[in-house]
Amino acid sequence: MTDLLHRRILFVCLGNICRSPLAEGVFLHRARALGVEESLVVDSAGTGAWHAGERPDPRSIDVARKYGVSLPGRARQLREADFRDFDLILAMDRENFRNIDRMRGSARGSAELRLFREFDPEAGDDLEIPDPYYGGPEGFDRVFEMVDRAGCGLLEFLFPHGGAGAEGGKR
Ligand code: 4NP
Repeated sequence: MTDLLHRRILFVCLGNICRSPLAEGVFLHRARALGVEESLVVDSAGTGAWHAGERPDPRSIDVARKYGVSLPGRARQLREADFRDFDLILAMDRENFRNIDRMRGSARGSAELRLFREFDPEAGDDLEIPDPYYGGPEGFDRVFEMVDRAGCGLLEFLFPHGGAGAEGGKR
């Protein structure tokens, strides 16, 4: 990857109501603060279709609101065109990654597939963002922290001279 490519970014989880809308909203929020929003196309999707058409989970909306972040959009399922329409597809966990990769088998397009937490400087060996759906609200706080760190890491990668480093620790 070079810093001139990968401006169209798709965040993907299982249901597209908990993790990926939070990743999308937080990333856009940070990008706006950095003044680079206009050079990005950002969306999110789920590998499953169960929640298609729904707004994000209220627990994701709540944790986002705590940090002044609003969550856009409604859930949709990943589709073949996404592999052409996006440069970078970011999976929240390894199961998402495998399912996306399987779907890519029949799709044309050159999107690069990565685990989102590869961009989290604190991830260590744990490159997954765990599914918080069946847990309590504290799981959503943890997810928020992970997607925020990974989003800042991704902005630094994409815009190394864009000032993301200076803003990286602030909320
Ligand atoms: P997400 O969380 O993949 O982060 O949106 C989930 C949402 C719904 C379900 C599982 C995970 N579900 O089983 O319905």
